[in-house]
Amino acid sequence: MTSPAPADTALWRPPAPPLRSNLRIGLQLLLGRPPDLLFTLPKDCYTKDVVSVPVGKRPVFIVNHPETLRRLFSEDRESYPKSDLMISTLAPLLGDGVLLSAGRRWEHDRKMLEPAFMQMRLEALFPKMLSAIHDWIERLDSLAGDHIVSLESELSRVTADVMFRILFSQAIEGEAATTIYHAFTRFQQHSPQFNLRVVLASDPARPEPLSPVLQEEASKIRGTIEQLLIQRETQLGEGKVFFDFTQALIDARDAAGNAFTRSELIDQLAVFFLAGHETTASALAWCFFILSQQPYWLSQLQSEIDQQLADKPFTYSDFKQMPLTRAIFRESMRLYPPVAFLTRRALREDNFGRLRIPKDSFIVASPWLVHRHHRFWSQADRFDPSRFIDQDNAPLAGSYMPFGLGPRACTGAMIAQLEATLILCEVLRRFSVKPMNPERVFPVSRVSVRSDCGMPVQFIRRYTRLN
Ligand code: HEM
Repeated sequence: MTSPAPADTALWRPPAPPLRSNLRIGLQLLLGRPPDLLFTLPKDCYTKDVVSVPVGKRPVFIVNHPETLRRLFSEDRESYPKSDLMISTLAPLLGDGVLLSAGRRWEHDRKMLEPAFMQMRLEALFPKMLSAIHDWIERLDSLAGDHIVSLESELSRVTADVMFRILFSQAIEGEAATTIYHAFTRFQQHSPQFNLRVVLASDPARPEPLSPVLQEEASKIRGTIEQLLIQRETQLGEGKVFFDFTQALIDARDAAGNAFTRSELIDQLAVFFLAGHETTASALAWCFFILSQQPYWLSQLQSEIDQQLADKPFTYSDFKQMPLTRAIFRESMRLYPPVAFLTRRALREDNFGRLRIPKDSFIVASPWLVHRHHRFWSQADRFDPSRFIDQDNAPLAGSYMPFGLGPRACTGAMIAQLEATLILCEVLRRFSVKPMNPERVFPVSRVSVRSDCGMPVQFIRRYTRLN
């Protein structure tokens, strides 16, 4: 389908920490400022099945082995709920929503959410997504050329708007968009979960008090959601009728006939809003960045888009006809999985092979590491979308997990892929993306994988205006 990539394309190494020994990382931790978690992962983490981190208050195990991962995330998942650190960091924002809840509570809520998932059929969402994306493209058109904009902030804006239209059937207003973006950026910067020193010093019996910034920013986001719920209650009182995710949540009843309380509704909506926009924005920012550094793959992608769409509007059926777009997005999520670390707490003693896992151990399953593991991927740190095109080259089972694993895997994976395809196509058929200082772009692990500079870029028009 595509001609072979030129040699310099295959040699390019997308920005990532260099592989270093345990000793060098240990010295850096002892002597330097606490670096980002991604920069504290020694070489062993990219080559071994299980790595034990023997310092700190509690045992930490990093698991790469597909069979062990499957057990942790499927059969034995009750013994490995989300980690106390993940819960204490995200709970101010997500309460006991479905991303954090465990056991019976999670099963109960997932059942109650089923009618809401029916509102999430891709074909039904497609027009809502497209209208948000087209409004944003108009904005890009007015910024194209000389303006320098933050790619990350722009993508958060559009993905937040997409989620707002899916959840609430209304566009995110300018002020709400700005409040949410800034609140969430600050929330991410103050999240303790992603600093190795915090992980090592954490004690499940005595959780650290959270920073007031985290609480404050979480309550701004929850406040925005609450306002929308209050507005919806008023509209329902006026006899208006809605068919959307929020309405399905309001109407949901459990077996005993109970509805979600207002605070539970905010929890669930906050989960879908956060899980649904932040991750997709992160995945897309890295994908656009990679394409801006890889003229060969960008031109291949733009040819696929031009051939498939010509100057027609994007229709739902085009989604299935873009194999290279899909492969590029998948490969970019391999290198930059938005959720780099899935963390769990061992509720009981266990064994991973010959390793004893004490109760309360901190377990890390990392898409970042599994996706760059030397045993599962050749030239693991190179960008090569053909991995997802050639069937002979298909990834090993369990070695690709951007959406997690088992029954707690992402419920929005298909939505994210549709949205990403639409955004990539609608942008790249009109613009090229030119980063200002690509050499300064480095990944850091926040709630999702971000750059440390917001990715300043210019959008350059390819042709004169397309409608
Ligand atoms: C590229 C985009 C996305 C990525 C990479 C992603 C990734 C993930 C991952 C890794 C998990 C599992 C977390 C864990 O096991 O600790 C997860 C869970 C979840 N995601 Fe996504 N997600 C994306 C988009 C979305 C979208 C668009 C939605 C909603 C429309 C969504 C809704 C959820 C929900 C509700 C859960 C919790 C499922 C449960 O525990 O029952 N995600 N996601």
